[in-house]
Amino acid sequence: MKFSHESIEINAGLLIVLTLVAISIGGLVEIVPLFYIPGTVEKVDGVRPYTPLEQAGRDIYTREGCYLCHSQMIRPFRDEKLRFGHYSLAAESQYDHPFQWGSKRTGPDLARVGKKYSNAWHVQHLKAPRSVVPESIMPNYPWLAENDLDYSDIADRMRALKKVGVPYSETEAEYQANVKKFGKAMADQLNINLAGENLLAQAEAGNYDGNRSRLSELDALIAYLQVLGTMVDFKKYDEGYFAEFR
Ligand code: HEC
Repeated sequence: MKFSHESIEINAGLLIVLTLVAISIGGLVEIVPLFYIPGTVEKVDGVRPYTPLEQAGRDIYTREGCYLCHSQMIRPFRDEKLRFGHYSLAAESQYDHPFQWGSKRTGPDLARVGKKYSNAWHVQHLKAPRSVVPESIMPNYPWLAENDLDYSDIADRMRALKKVGVPYSETEAEYQANVKKFGKAMADQLNINLAGENLLAQAEAGNYDGNRSRLSELDALIAYLQVLGTMVDFKKYDEGYFAEFR
C-alpha cells in the first residue's frame, strides 16, 4: 500500500486510527503536566482562602456573570504587565473554585484590581459605571446596593469548598493546622463554625458599601474585589524567582 495522503483519506479505518493517534498526543501534552503540579505551583507566602464575606462576594460575582466581560488572568506579556501588574501565578488561584480566569476581555482584567480604587469608587461604579467612567459600556448593577446579603448558607458553601480541597476548618486539628499555615487571625476567619459571625464582623469593620445600617450584596462584592491580587507581596521576590516554575 502506498502511504500517501490519498490512501489515508480513502481508507476510513486507517484515518480513524491516525486521528486517534493525533488526538492522543494532544491529550497527553495537556494531561501529563498535571501529574507534576506540585512542581508547577509557585511557592509563595500570603495566598489564602477567601474569608466568608469575600466568598459571598465571589458568589455574587459569579451569579452576575462578571466573568463574561472580565478576565482574571494576567498573561506573561510585557504589555499586560505594564497595564495590570505582575502576571498571574498558579498559586494565586489555587483556592479558586471555579476559576474566574475568563476568556474574554470586554472590560479590563480584574486579577489585580484590589486596592486600586476606594470602596466609594466601587459603590458608585457598580451602581452607575458611566457616572465615573463616561465612555463605559458596563451595565448598571443598582440592585446590589438594594439587596440584603443572604448569607444563611455560607457555612454550607464553605463546607462544599472544603470537599474540593480548600482548607477551611471544622475540627480543632484542622483549625490548628490553619493557625500554623495562615496565622491565628486568619485561621479564625477560615473556621466554618464561626462563618456567620465572621462575615458580619468583617462587613461591620470594613463598611464597604458606605452604609452602616445594613448588610448589602454590594458589601460582599466590594470586599471580594478589594482582595483580588493583593495576597502576594511581589516586592519579596526577585524577577528570576518565578522563572523556575514556568
Ligand atoms: C458588558 C460587559 C461588562 C460586564 C458584564 C461587567 N463589566 Fe465591569 N467593566 C466593563 C468595561 C467595558 C469596563 C471599563 C470601563 C469602566 O471602568 O467602567 C469595566 C470596568 C470595571 C472595573 C474597573 C476596572 C479597572 O481596573 O479600572 C471593575 C472593578 C469592574 N468593571 C467590575 C465589574 C463587576 C464586579 C461586574 C459584575 C457585577 C462587571 N464589572 C460586569 C465591562 C463589563
